[in-house]
Amino acid sequence: MLTINCTINGRAYKFTLDPRMSLMELLRQHGLNSVKQGCSVGECGACTVLIDDVATDTCIYLAVWADGKTIRTTEGEVQHGQLSVVQQAYVDTGAVQCGFCTPGLVMTSTSMVERFRGKRLTEQEIRRGLAGNLCRCTGYTAIVNAVEKAQLLDEETPR
Ligand code: FES
Ligand code: FES
Repeated sequence: MLTINCTINGRAYKFTLDPRMSLMELLRQHGLNSVKQGCSVGECGACTVLIDDVATDTCIYLAVWADGKTIRTTEGEVQHGQLSVVQQAYVDTGAVQCGFCTPGLVMTSTSMVERFRGKRLTEQEIRRGLAGNLCRCTGYTAIVNAVEKAQLLDEETPR
């Protein structure tokens, strides 16, 4: 067993765990069920979270590698009962159908919106950025619209 310290959605945690455990398993065991178990081999993106603000497939990321890292899941993006700009954009554009892919897509989209603040992404750039997240329902058009809308909402957000 190994002990790690990390921050998840703004709270500090200490875990003692089997070094073979994936970060996906750890997060789900602690109730963060937005982190979906899809393919478990790094193909579908359903398990995506932000690790130090980088979108990462947690099914192929060992939990022990998260020592000292800051992790964000979609649960932590809701602040004071208010959806994040990305979550709101997904709702507004109808980009959620069955919802299985949505938490991972929201986190990948969040990393893109934050990383490219000040630059309006083209449709092609958005599609390339989302290439690691698969969705069986939407056909992706509404998801691309959601990222475009999230960039607009983000620009309007005072900071
Ligand atoms: Fe991790 Fe599919 S469950 S990429
Ligand atoms: Fe169903 Fe994307 S909304 S898989």
